[in-house]
Amino acid sequence: MNLTIIGTGYVGLVTGTCFAEMGNTVTCVDIDKQKIENLEKGIIPIYEPGLDAMVTRNVNNQTLRFHTDLQKSLDHCDMAFIAVGTPMGEDGSADLQYVLDVAKSIGKYINQPIIIVDKSTVPVGTADKVKDVVASELKNRGVEIEFQVVSNPEFLKEGDAINDFMKPDRVVVGTEDKETAEKMRQLYAPFFRSSMDRMLVMDVRSAEMTKYVANAMLATKISFMNEIANICELVGADVNKVRIGIGSDSRIGYSFIYPGSGYGGSCFPKDVKALKKTAEQNGYSAQLLSAVEDVNNRQKLIIADKVISHFGSNLSNKTFAVWGLSFKPGTDDMREAPSIYIINKLIALGAKIQAYDPKAIDEAKEFYLKDISEVSYAASKYDVLKNADALLMLTEWKEFRSPDFMEIKNNLKSPVIFDGRNQYDSERLQKMGFEYYQIGKN
Ligand code: UDX
Repeated sequence: MNLTIIGTGYVGLVTGTCFAEMGNTVTCVDIDKQKIENLEKGIIPIYEPGLDAMVTRNVNNQTLRFHTDLQKSLDHCDMAFIAVGTPMGEDGSADLQYVLDVAKSIGKYINQPIIIVDKSTVPVGTADKVKDVVASELKNRGVEIEFQVVSNPEFLKEGDAINDFMKPDRVVVGTEDKETAEKMRQLYAPFFRSSMDRMLVMDVRSAEMTKYVANAMLATKISFMNEIANICELVGADVNKVRIGIGSDSRIGYSFIYPGSGYGGSCFPKDVKALKKTAEQNGYSAQLLSAVEDVNNRQKLIIADKVISHFGSNLSNKTFAVWGLSFKPGTDDMREAPSIYIINKLIALGAKIQAYDPKAIDEAKEFYLKDISEVSYAASKYDVLKNADALLMLTEWKEFRSPDFMEIKNNLKSPVIFDGRNQYDSERLQKMGFEYYQIGKN
């Protein structure tokens, strides 16, 4: 099929590249000229394992092209995917300006029947808005061209996005048109392992809702476990054991119940807020979603609170080494990362920070910890420990999971570790002479 993907951000780029990999002819379009020029040269704007090699391979095979010209890319196009951003508006709702601008351009430029696919995470009712905008543009032009608007939300995890796209658990397609559903099935059939049909066809509004509900459910699991972790500490229980104890019940399951420093990233915080807003706009107060957010906001600072109860609230002579800045391993993304909140809180109390992250240092310097003179960076996980009063482990990158603890002890001024992701064996560390703090266990 001939596909146009509009927006070469995280979702658009992964989507376009994976469709090209499956033999479709894909044009990725973006208004950012510099970005398109870079992509043509194989320079990828994000860190996502496996993506650069796949882009290069498909550009060389001429199955993947990059363009700034939307009009041209819509010639001979069977399906146009809208994958532009839906940033959070001031009131917490998703800002649809970019999605609707794209819809307008599609209505202006198409000359043959087309399927328009909403890939961006958009509130319920957006497909109808897109339909109205396209229809009104066609009317202005005085032409009649058949088009369908489908909701096809993405469920990609950063750091594992290629795998998620190539081997999906499910593909949700919102359309009431049988022929369109069949075309979507043809597009996705090669991605289903053992020919098992994993496509779920439903009405558009349910498909739009599914994306928000999946993320809100996962965020709820995390906040629930974080709340339980805090209670465990107070009653002298170990949340790590409780987690296994409850996970073994197949109705509960083991996944997404790891306590820690709270969830971050571009999706959970934004989507929980947007769903809450949608409820509110429809006259419903979503109390559970509010609590999920509140617990998460508090949880992001739990490690800072533990530092304060150990060292006191005057940290002016203290230096802390931080392992991990990104919101999770496998990505350089720092959006809503707990590290930002923890570091800023400690600095406000007079501390200095030495940070190391395998991928996110440039992000930190350029955006999230920009111009903060109290933060310095090191080139390795052991260098960053020198002269520090304690180590704060904030993102569970693989290289932090089984470190040389003697090396840590020899480099730190005092053997204290605050672990925001419960990675280490507390008994072993205590035997080695460390003071070891984790989440949900004293
Ligand atoms: C998420 C969804 O998983 C994905 O389906 C959706 O399309 C986009 O949002 P992502 O934001 O990449 O993907 O991150 P994910 O791996 O889901 O982790 C989100 C956050 O939850 C991270 O901050 C992680 O540290 C935290 N987390 C995850 C926990 O604190 N505990 C857990 O048990 C699991």
